[in-house]
Amino acid sequence: MKKCDYFVDNGECYYGNSNNTTGKQTESKLTILNNYVLEWIIVTMAAKGKDRYGRELIYDGLVFVDCMSSAGMYKTHDGRVIDGTSINVLKHFINSKKYHPDKTFKLVLNDKDEKSMKCQECRINDILSNSKNVDVIYEKMDVSMFLDKLSESEFFDKIWNKDKKFHTVFFYDPYDVDIRWDAISKLLNKLKRTELRYDFILTHFFQNDTIRSIMSGTKKIGKYESAYGMMYDDLADKIKSIDSFERNQFLRDALIKMMIKNLRIDQTKIAYGPVFSQTNSAIYDIVFYSKSLKGLKIFKEFMYKTNTRDKDNNNLKHAQIVMSFDDQDIIDDASYEQKRYTGSEREYFYSVSSYADIIVAAFIRRENVSKEDILGYRNIHPFIPTSSIEKALDSELRLRNVSINKKVYDFSKIDRIQK
Ligand SMILES: C[S@@+](CC[C@H](N)C(=O)[O-])C[C@H]1O[C@@H](n2cnc3c(N)ncnc32)[C@H](O)[C@@H]1O
Repeated sequence: MKKCDYFVDNGECYYGNSNNTTGKQTESKLTILNNYVLEWIIVTMAAKGKDRYGRELIYDGLVFVDCMSSAGMYKTHDGRVIDGTSINVLKHFINSKKYHPDKTFKLVLNDKDEKSMKCQECRINDILSNSKNVDVIYEKMDVSMFLDKLSESEFFDKIWNKDKKFHTVFFYDPYDVDIRWDAISKLLNKLKRTELRYDFILTHFFQNDTIRSIMSGTKKIGKYESAYGMMYDDLADKIKSIDSFERNQFLRDALIKMMIKNLRIDQTKIAYGPVFSQTNSAIYDIVFYSKSLKGLKIFKEFMYKTNTRDKDNNNLKHAQIVMSFDDQDIIDDASYEQKRYTGSEREYFYSVSSYADIIVAAFIRRENVSKEDILGYRNIHPFIPTSSIEKALDSELRLRNVSINKKVYDFSKIDRIQK
C-alpha cells in the first residue's frame, strides 16, 4: 500500500491503527449499503424504463454522495480492517466502468474531519492510480455548508451536467441525530425540479442516548429540534410522559414525518428498519427513500437478509429487546417486551412470523383477498420484503387460520389477532 502522512510503517492506515474499533452494527450497515449499491448499479445501468412523459429512460451515469464519509475504512472488534462505504462504492464504480465504458461514475465525498478526508483521499488515489475512470470530488466541510455548496448552480451543474441524466444515491450518516433538513431539502428538491432521480439513505440514531439527552437537556438541544421538527420543551415533555416502547415509536414517526414534509414525498416510498450490535441491541435505524418500487424492494430485501443472517450468531430467546447507544449501556425494560409482542425488536422487523401477524391484522375478517392485494400491501410496507419469503409466509398465514386457495386468501375464519 502507498505511504503517506497517514500511513504508518507497517503499511496500515493511521485510522486502521487507531483504537477506535467499530461494532457489529457498522458492519451490518456497510454490508447493506454495499449490497444495495451493487444492485443499484446493475438495475440503473440496465434500465429501460420510461420517464413521466413516456420517454425512454437511459441513465448517462451514476452519482454517489456520502455527506459524512469518514475515512473509508474501519477496524473491527476482532482486528480486521474493512472498507467503509466510500471505498466499497469506488470499487464497484471502477468495476462497472469496465462493462459500461460510455457511462460516467462520480463519487462525491465530504466529512468535517480533515484527517479522515486526507486518509481517505490517499487511499483512493492509490486505488485509482491504475484507472482514472471514476470522478471523485472531495470536500471537508460541515454538512450544511457542503449541501449548500452542492445546491449552488455552479457546483450543481458541474456534478449533474444539464444535458445528462444521472441517477444519484445520497447517503447521510451522522453519529447522532444531527439531521439538517433545510440543507437536505434545498438540494434534493432542486434535483427533483430538474427531473433528476435520487435515492436518499439516512441513519437515524434515536435510542437511549438520544432519549437520555433529550430528557436531561445536557447535549446541544438545537439538533433535536431540527431533526424532529419540535420545540425542545415540547419534545422533552412528550418523551418524559411515555414509556420506552412508545418513545421509540414516537421518535421513529417524528423523523418519518419530517422526511415526508421536507422531501415532499409519499410515505409509501419510505422503508426502514433497525440494525443490531454484538449484544443484539437495536442501535439505529437505516431509513431509505426511493421513488422506484424496485429500489424499495432491493433495500428491504437486503435489510431482511443481512439481519436474519446475523441472527444465527445470537441467542434470540435471550435477545435484548431494549435499546442501547453503546454495548455497555443496556437497560432492561420488561414492558417493552410485552408491548412488542414478538418478544424482540429483531423478530418484529425481520421474521416471517411477525410479517404474517402484521398481514393478518391488516386484512382481518376479509374474504377473497387476491395474492396481488397482499403483494401490493407488502410493496408499500416499510419493512416487509417483497420477494424471497413467499412459501414461508403462506405457511405462517395458514398457521393463523388463513385459508389459501388458488392464490386467493381468506381471512374470515380468524376471529381475533393472535399474539
Ligand atoms: C458514521 S461516520 C460515517 C461513515 C461513512 N458514511 C461510512 O459508511 O463509511 C460519521 C461521520 O460523520 C462526520 N460528521 C459528524 N457531524 C458532521 C457534520 N456536521 N458535518 C460533516 N461531517 C460530520 C464525522 O466526522 C464522522 O466521520
